[in-house]
Parts: sequence; C-alpha cells; structure tokens
Amino acid sequence: MTDVAAKLGPLWGAALRTEDATDDADFFDSGGTSIDAVRLAASIATTFDIAVNAVDVVTHSEFADLANLIESRLAAEGTGPAIKSLWDDEVFRRFELIVNGPALFNAVVTGLELDIFGFLARQPKAELDEIRQFADVPRHQLRVLMHALCSTRLIERHEGRYVNSAVAETLLAGDGPDSWRHILPAWQRVYYPAFQHLTSAVRTGTNTALADYPGDEPSLYQRLSRDPELEAVFHRAMGAFTRQTLDGLLDNAELSGVGHLVDVGGGDGTTAIQLANRFPDLRVTVFDLNSVAARAGDQGLIKFRGCPECW
Ligand SMILES: C[S@@+](CC[C@H](N)C(=O)[O-])C[C@H]1O[C@@H](n2cnc3c(N)ncnc32)[C@H](O)[C@@H]1O
Repeated sequence: MTDVAAKLGPLWGAALRTEDATDDADFFDSGGTSIDAVRLAASIATTFDIAVNAVDVVTHSEFADLANLIESRLAAEGTGPAIKSLWDDEVFRRFELIVNGPALFNAVVTGLELDIFGFLARQPKAELDEIRQFADVPRHQLRVLMHALCSTRLIERHEGRYVNSAVAETLLAGDGPDSWRHILPAWQRVYYPAFQHLTSAVRTGTNTALADYPGDEPSLYQRLSRDPELEAVFHRAMGAFTRQTLDGLLDNAELSGVGHLVDVGGGDGTTAIQLANRFPDLRVTVFDLNSVAARAGDQGLIKFRGCPECW
C-alpha cells in the first residue's frame, strides 16, 4: 500500500463509516452520499494540503482511483504554477471542462443511444441493475458510463438510485421532433470529426474537412447526399435545431396576405410546416437538393422540389 493509500484509508473509513478501504472499494457501493463526498473531500484537502472537491470524489469513486488522483495532485504541487491556486481559478475550471468535454459529450451520446435518459424518465430512481437489464450492456461498463453521466450532473445518484436532472428530463428524455436526442448524434458524426481539420483549414483557408467525404462537390450538403443514412441523421438534427428557434420567426412573420412562399434550402420542411400551420391558406414550395426533397415528400399545400443547383 502506498503512503497516500495508507493515509487515505482512515479518512475513507470515517466518511463512509466502514472499515473497507481496499483498492477496489467503491464510494457508491459503500453507501456514499453527496454529503459524504463533501466531507471526504474536505478531510483529504486538509490532510494532504491539496485542492480536492466533492466532484473529484464522485468521479474517482474507486479507492485506488482516488488515491491516484491525490498522488497526481501532490506531484503537480511541485511543478509549474501552484495547482491549488489554479483550482480556485474559474478559467482553469473552464479549461478542465473544455479538455474533458469530448469524453463527457460522447458519454451523453451513448446515454442517448442506450436510451438511459428515456428509461429514467419512465422509471425514476432505478438501480444500476435495473438500468443494466434495460440497456443490456455489461455491468462494469455501465457503471463507468453512469459515473461519467453523474459527473456531468445530467444524471444524479442518491443512495444507489439514479434520476434524471431537470435539464436531462427536459432536453434528453423525450423523443419529440425538437429533442436534443436528434441533434447530438449528428454533432458526434458530422461536426466533431471535422474540427480536427481546423489547423489545416485555417492555414489553407479552405474547408479541408470536406476531404473526409467522398465526392468532388464543393459543399458538405452535396456530398452527404451520397450517404442517405448519414444525410437523414444530419437533416433530422437540423430540423430539431431549427425548431429550437422557430418561435421567434413564427411570432414575427406576418404572412396573412401572402399566397405562395418559396423556401430555398428549406431542408426537410421544418420551417415550412410550422408556417403552414400558422397560416393555413399559405402554399409553400421548398427547394432543396434532390435527395433531401425526395425524402421529405409533399404534404398538403407544401411541395418539395429537387434543385441541385439552387446556388
Ligand atoms: C443550413 S441548412 C438550412 C435548412 C432549413 N432552412 C432550416 O432552417 O432548418 C441549408 C439547406 O440548404 C440545402 N442546400 C445546400 N446547398 C444547396 C444547393 N446547392 N441547392 C439546393 N439546396 C442546397 C441543404 O440541403 C440544407 O437543407
């Protein structure tokens, strides 16, 4: 046992009222609550004279992980700028979020794909084994995923039971056409892979990320039409995202005297459909790429027309 683990053992035991401070002991499985996490973090901070908070404790819930975290904080004390003052620095905390963001983002998308947010909406206060039965994934992997989701605070864990936060319940649990459930998978598959090309794009002044998509067409939209499944994912996301801001347009568009509206690049018709609901006599023609128009299909007074060279 390392010196750190030997010192941490009694703190862990006191906070969790247990004598089990083995390497694989788990904070949550030992009955740890958020108040215990605050108490344990405070005693670690005092004993080791480092900055540690309750989030650190719950995101390093295995005893050995927590001991490693303390060791790395202690090691960092001797190098570079004082880590303790960095932890008090809002910019540093944002930096932490930025650099860990991709891992947390992908955990959220996996939570969506396994429908964990939806399951917790239907069955709040579920235990890990109930979620495991529903999601049909191995227990250990699910526990790691749930730790990551708890560290985002989108999901909360109280006495071994999981619940959606209010934000997750509102934005992620539902399956409506404006749900973020439709937006994030497209960001994962289309937007985020493109960002790794940023340096070359800045250097050359061109959209170098396009090279990831087959074809020689000049825009992402056109190249996506070669991959109908991905194009559908992308347009579902765009429709959901557009719905988030549509109320502003609907509240301000005065179209009562207008007979026929043309929406060029109108995608799957999200905007056209909402406008037609608000102004029932309005005819709308949506022009978009052939593949997009073909997928949408005419609906009442809304007609879709393929227009490969609209601009
Ligand atoms: C940013 S999206 C906007 C979609 C929709 N208006 C909305 O607000 O959700 C741009 C749209 O333009 C379409 N588009 C892009 N290039 C086009 C082109 N050359 N001809 C026709 N449509 C095109 C895309 O397929 C996509 O649906």
